Amino acid sequence: MSQVVSYELQANIGIITVNNPPVNALAQVVREGILNAVNTAQKDASEAIILCCDGRTFIAGADITEFGKPPKEPGLPDVLTAIENSTKPIVAAIHGTALGGGFEVTLACHYRCAVASAKVGLPEVKLGLLPGAGGTQRVPRIAGVQAALDMITSGNPVPAQKAKDMGLVDEVVEGEELLAGAISYTKHLIESGAPLKRIRDITIDSSTIEAGFFESARERLAKRARGQIAQDRIVSCLQAAVELPIDEGLIRERELFKELVNSPESAAMRHIFFAERQAAKIKDLAKDTALRPIKSVAILGGGTMGGGIAMCFANVGIPVILVEINDEALERGLSIVRKNYAITVQKGKLPADKMEQRIGLISGTTDYGDISDVDLVIEAVFENLDLKKEIFAKLDAACKPGAILATNTSYQDVDAIAEATARPEDVVGMHFFSPANVMKLLEVVRGEKTADDVLATVMQIGKKIGKVCALSRVCYGFIGNRMLGGYGREAQMLLLDGCTPAQVDGALEGFGMAMGPLAMSDLAGLDVGYKARQGRTDLPDDPKLYRMGTMLVEMGRYGQKTGSGFYQYDPETRRRMSDPEVEALIKEEADKLNVEQAHISDDEILARCFYPLINEGAKILEEGIAQRASDIDVVYIYGYAFPVAKGGPMHYADSVGLKNVHEKICEFRDKYGEQYWNPSPLLKQLAEEGKTFAQWDKERSAPQ
Ligand code: 3HC
Ligand code: NAI
Repeated sequence: MSQVVSYELQANIGIITVNNPPVNALAQVVREGILNAVNTAQKDASEAIILCCDGRTFIAGADITEFGKPPKEPGLPDVLTAIENSTKPIVAAIHGTALGGGFEVTLACHYRCAVASAKVGLPEVKLGLLPGAGGTQRVPRIAGVQAALDMITSGNPVPAQKAKDMGLVDEVVEGEELLAGAISYTKHLIESGAPLKRIRDITIDSSTIEAGFFESARERLAKRARGQIAQDRIVSCLQAAVELPIDEGLIRERELFKELVNSPESAAMRHIFFAERQAAKIKDLAKDTALRPIKSVAILGGGTMGGGIAMCFANVGIPVILVEINDEALERGLSIVRKNYAITVQKGKLPADKMEQRIGLISGTTDYGDISDVDLVIEAVFENLDLKKEIFAKLDAACKPGAILATNTSYQDVDAIAEATARPEDVVGMHFFSPANVMKLLEVVRGEKTADDVLATVMQIGKKIGKVCALSRVCYGFIGNRMLGGYGREAQMLLLDGCTPAQVDGALEGFGMAMGPLAMSDLAGLDVGYKARQGRTDLPDDPKLYRMGTMLVEMGRYGQKTGSGFYQYDPETRRRMSDPEVEALIKEEADKLNVEQAHISDDEILARCFYPLINEGAKILEEGIAQRASDIDVVYIYGYAFPVAKGGPMHYADSVGLKNVHEKICEFRDKYGEQYWNPSPLLKQLAEEGKTFAQWDKERSAPQ
């Protein structure tokens, strides 16, 4: 029939099987194959048809690589029409995940059965899209408008049994033998003369929808997903499902889907979908690199980071030993872990017995002798190179051969730490982000001598604990923190140049950052940056540099923890409020330093804060610290809450145009000095060639 879709008649049942690895995405050949098979089945001796898939999953959706390219016939809606109009019942047989267009295919079928481990969902919103093949019209007809709204705007998949309870699936077949279960279910349908059930024939009783339902949904969602238009369009589609006949609703859905496919938000989110999967791949590592088994882990230091990292492993059933300097510190660390779990239970996100199980996997010690047998050690003690070297020498003596020795350092030289051991090939950086049990990013730092199997194992274990991994070579601050320097610096410089803190943060929050850089510094504590600067000899000797941050610390204003910093904080609610005293102080300092204050537009604020970040990103690429520009985007989306709808700093730069970014950096260099604005040669080259970072990545991923 076709390479990817086969059809065979088994007794009186026609079986259509899709086989398009890895996830059976609905590429043009699959659409065509299904359409042909449905047409063939109309004319043969079959009394009913099963649509199922080979491989690890049911159809996982439209082929995302086809978006943005000229459409190819047949379109998905044509395939669904053929399925729905079949004169013989079509039963979808689901295993793995039926997602997006894949789930929409099943909704055009007359019946749906699934194995218990299967999930169904409409995750389009995570790509800045909406279900464009009837999902917004059919789901509310069988599950109700509220359930459809929750499902489609969250994008979260629903397990088979719950899907059955919601009416999305008709039958959960017993055991994992899907085809046998589906055949017996289909036979039963044939024997009982089951009708051709078409979801399109159901009408929604609009009187059940409360007045103002859609308006309030729009408002709520606009707050939750700032800068993303998909949620709003999903509400419009659901409203159409209630108010219009289905064919008009489907037309409306198609129009809005097309609008979203062509939006910059969706392009950015699709970029991140693929970037995340690319980042997990290390270019010069053989795919079949043998992995070291990780069955137990030790964490050194049970402070802010250590406790959270311990939770990551306990959450996936791996036992953890927490090592501290004394009993008191150990108890403090363990009690914070217990408290964090208790909060999760209180929020209803974890059953109490699971909490006990997980806590039971975390033990504590003050004796290195107790970790002689673990497979992986992650050091998370104070950020001090000498201390870390001392600890790695001790680990070298205490741990078994083959154990992976990782450091969570934010800035220190992983190679220097590795040299403190006689086995630098076993040493690697595992840089988590705070709070470690929540933040999705894991920067994996490859030392000069880190062994291939250590890297492969760490990337794999990172995925297992739910992290998105990105590889960095060794440099000060690795990818993320190194790039951040200029961002924080310019946020403070802008104050002297005429902005208020609220203006700077407002511009960046308007862009989509969860929190502006000055509010973020107040949250982290201004004293942290202050102390870090004390030890640095590489900073330019410029009284303007970090002037306001330094002054505030010297006034005892450390940020939220002292009730004031760049802002004042309400002691009860912690709400941030502008502080006239700070605004007056900024003016006074600008006068003293002879800085002429002027009005600065939001666009200029964005350029001042983001372009140093992008410029440093380009240098990181030049130096081979990051493998790809898209890896840098992954670091910023998952580690620094850069808005996903902007696709990360490098994608954002591409969308602004590298020529524009480069020109502006040169303008800033001429105005503010070369010590801060020194354009990267790579950025200059790409700007001159009219290329993007994405093209640069592509040229380097092509076989040489
Ligand atoms: N289109 C094209 N490629 C896809 C794809 C898709 N829909 N889904 C996954 N892939 C690719 C991945 O890029 C990856 O490629 P690589 O090996 O070259 O890196 C490969 O398939 C395997 O994917 P994962 O690494 O993600 O595999 P997992 O087993 O971890 O996860 C999955 C499987 C849960 C299906 C996950 O891939 C997934 O969530 N896919 C996307 C699902 C989705 O968003 N569907 C909706 C698409 S939009 C749509 O359908 C519009 C419609 O309404 C009209
Ligand atoms: P912290 O000060 O909260 O905790 C450090 C812990 O290490 C303390 O509990 C201390 O008692 C313990 N410790 C000190 N010496 C020890 C030893 N010899 N053996 C065992 N335990 C020892 O520090 P935090 O914030 O958890 O940072 C730890 C590391 O993680 C640092 O290298 C830091 O740069 C890095 N990091 C911190 C992030 C953050 O946001 N706090 C983010 C990412 C990395």
